[in-house]
Amino acid sequence: MSTPRGQFSSRFGFIMAAAGSAVGLGNVWGFPTQTASNGGAAFVLVYFVLAFLLAYPALMAELIIGRHARANVVTALGSLSSNPITSFIGKGVGYYGVILAGLILSFYTIVAGWMLSHLGHGIANVAGMTTVSQWLITSSITRDLMGSVIFAGLTMSIIASGIEGGIEKWSSRLMPILMVLLVLLIAYVFTQPGAMTGLKVYLLPDLSQVLKPSLLISALGQAFFSLSLGVGTMLIYGSYVDKNENLPKLGAIVTCVDLAIAFTAGLLIIPAMYVAQHSGTVIFNEAGELITETGLIFQVLPSLFTAMGNTGLWVAIAFFALMSIAAVTSSISMLEVPVSTAVEKTRLSRLAATLIMGSACLAISVLIIFNFDLLFVFVIDLTTKYSEPLLGIMFCIFAGWILQRNALLQELKQGNAAIESSLFWKIWPWYVRVVCPLLIVATFAQSLS
Ligand code: PFF
Repeated sequence: MSTPRGQFSSRFGFIMAAAGSAVGLGNVWGFPTQTASNGGAAFVLVYFVLAFLLAYPALMAELIIGRHARANVVTALGSLSSNPITSFIGKGVGYYGVILAGLILSFYTIVAGWMLSHLGHGIANVAGMTTVSQWLITSSITRDLMGSVIFAGLTMSIIASGIEGGIEKWSSRLMPILMVLLVLLIAYVFTQPGAMTGLKVYLLPDLSQVLKPSLLISALGQAFFSLSLGVGTMLIYGSYVDKNENLPKLGAIVTCVDLAIAFTAGLLIIPAMYVAQHSGTVIFNEAGELITETGLIFQVLPSLFTAMGNTGLWVAIAFFALMSIAAVTSSISMLEVPVSTAVEKTRLSRLAATLIMGSACLAISVLIIFNFDLLFVFVIDLTTKYSEPLLGIMFCIFAGWILQRNALLQELKQGNAAIESSLFWKIWPWYVRVVCPLLIVATFAQSLS
C-alpha cells in the first residue's frame, strides 16, 4: 500500500525546516561547551574547517539521495542499486540510522527537559512561586522525568500533524525569533566586565592545539551532530524537496545558517562564562578544566541573569524559551526518521507511528535518567562522536559509488540546468567518493594515535 508523501510547500519552508533541524541544542549547548572544553578558538577554527570540508559534502550526499529516492532512509538506501548485496547493506545502514536517530532523541529529550525546567523556573520566579521555582532548578529524577515527558509530548504532537501543518509551519515561525533573541542577549553580555577576556579566548586561536587528536574528533562529531548528519534526517528532508530546487544552493544556505548560529551562540556563551567568573562563579578547577561540561550553560547563565537584577528574570525566560524552541525544531526532525520509516514500511497511520516511536524513545530517555552516570555521556559519545561520522561515510559512499553518475547528474540538473559546467559538479562527485571517506577515516585514525 503506498502512502501519499508530504512535500515542503516552498523553498523558504524547506530552508526553515532544515535549518530548524540543524540549529538546536547542538549549536547553543553543544558547540559552546565543546569550545570551552577544547581550548577556545582553536576548536572554533577546526570546527569551521571540518564543517566546510566534510559536513557540507556529506549533507549534499544525504539531500541528493533523499530527493532521488523520494522515500524514508531504509527504502532509499536499499533502492539505489539492484545488486542484492548492496541493497541489503543499504537497508542495514538505513536501520542503523533509524536506531541512531532514536538514541540521539532520547538524550536530547533529557537536555531539552532541562531547558523547559529552567524556563518554568523563570516563570515561577516572576509569579513569586519560590518553592516551585527552586525545585525546577534542583537536579532530581522526578524533575528530569517531568521535563522529558513534556518535551516528548510536544515533539510528538508536532510530528503527528505531518509535513506542512507541523514541521514547516513551526520551523518557519520559530527560527527568526531565535535569531533576534540571541543578538539581543549578546548586546547585553558585551557590556559586562569580563566579557572581553572571553571574546579573546573565543577568537584568538592557539595554533599549537589544532591537531590535538581529542580536539579533532570532538570537532568532527560536533560538525556532524550540528548539521543533523549521519542518521537520515537530512535524507528525509531532501525527499520532501521539490524536484525543481537547486540542491547545492539550498544545502549551502542551511550550512551557513547553522554555522552562523553556532558562532553567534559561542559569542554569547563564552564571554558569558568569563562574566560569570568575574563575578565569582567558579568555572574551572585548579587544573584549568571545566568543572561541569554538560551542565556548563546551566551554571554560567543563571549567574549572569541574576546579576542583571529584575530584567534578568525576563531575560532568563527569553533565553530558555529560545533554547526550548531550538530543541523542538531539531527533535521533530529526529522523530521524523523512525516515523516516516514506519509509515512507509507498515500500515500504521502517522499518528500511531508517532505515538509508538515517540514513546519508545521516551522509554530510553527514562532508562538514561535512572542510570544517568553510567549512560548519559556514554550515549552521547557513542552516537555523536563515533556513529554519526561513520554513517556519514556510508552516505558518501552510497552517493558516490552506488548512485550512478548519470542518475546523480540528472537529479542535480532538474534544479539547475547548467550544473554540468559548475564548480560543484567538477569537484563534488569525486570528492564525496574518495576524499570525504578518507578524511573522516584519517580523523578517526589520528584520534586513536
Ligand atoms: N542538529 C541538531 C542540533 O544541533 O541540536 C541535533 C540533531 C538533529 C542531530 C537531528 C541529529 C538529527 F538527526
